[in-house]
Amino acid sequence: MNNRELKRIEIISYLEDLSKTDSQFSTSIQENLIFFEKISSLKGFFDWVKNNMPTINGEQLKELTDFGNEKYSEELHIGMIKVERGFVPGFITPMVKKVSSYILSCNNSLLIADLGSGSAELMRQIIKRVLKSDFKQKITIVAFDRSESSHNIAAENLAVFANDIEITKVPQLKEEELVNIINKSDKKINVILVQNNIFNIAKDFKNTTFDMSYHSFFKHHLDVEYKNELDNILLEKSKITFEYDGFHSKFGLILQALFVWKQLVLLNGAVFSNLRYYKKEFLKGKAKNENIILYGMGPMFSHRGTYLRTLTNADKK
Ligand SMILES: C[S@@+](CC[C@H](N)C(=O)[O-])C[C@H]1O[C@@H](n2cnc3c(N)ncnc32)[C@H](O)[C@@H]1O
Repeated sequence: MNNRELKRIEIISYLEDLSKTDSQFSTSIQENLIFFEKISSLKGFFDWVKNNMPTINGEQLKELTDFGNEKYSEELHIGMIKVERGFVPGFITPMVKKVSSYILSCNNSLLIADLGSGSAELMRQIIKRVLKSDFKQKITIVAFDRSESSHNIAAENLAVFANDIEITKVPQLKEEELVNIINKSDKKINVILVQNNIFNIAKDFKNTTFDMSYHSFFKHHLDVEYKNELDNILLEKSKITFEYDGFHSKFGLILQALFVWKQLVLLNGAVFSNLRYYKKEFLKGKAKNENIILYGMGPMFSHRGTYLRTLTNADKK
């Protein structure tokens, strides 16, 4: 039996066990089970695309890594780092350019929130550009992610900048501690990896305003009411927010699935996240009143399928 097949059986067994104890996500667990049962072959995958996929409600769907399994989260992040470093299709390039050029346009020290920071690959690419520039101000980035394993990977991923940045892990960061860390450090860039609940930001950081916040491939993880709540929190606590995520595309879903066919956790993430993404028409409609740019294509006519939204005080309703 090959490694892919062994992994598939392991995941099915994990989901079967989970289905006996978890009732909150029972529908999503079943959808994940069906998916992993069907993808033993390409024929099975296309059968799933044709017959099962159209019956799934993307708004309620959870991915394998949303069930709190740290080992699978780690596998997802390691896989995503490779994908996000690729020149084609340059998945996060528009966001790296947007956030880094915003930073470079400022001439004051900055406090930044990175929400759902994952492996910090986006942050790594942003920091690389900032360090290459002659930006002189101090930057503090508070990286919020509930997954502990993601912070371990983030710390490893950022270790290349050891001379210029200080990384601090604080499971539950308090406002006073944030001030102390900023004042104490003599490094140009401070990264604080925290597990604070993102929806408690207003409560946890009452007297703080972030100069900027950003999130990437994060929003689709949230249910509709939480998506709106996130916008409201950030409108209140951050001067400007950059939001980056994918838009739904059947073509993109199949293409990405084939690209990561052998890496099952990543395959599940690529396919299920695509089902949760906003529809292109919805984003185009919103773009009439909001600052949203769609990126259909990457370099060399490759499929990218992402959008970038900018949120400022002017968007307050
Ligand atoms: C797909 S990853 C994206 C990571 C990274 N931003 C990137 O672009 O590669 C989504 C991340 O959001 C985190 N996440 C999902 N829901 C969350 C929540 N409610 N609170 C905090 N983190 C969450 C997950 O742990 C995961 O690391």
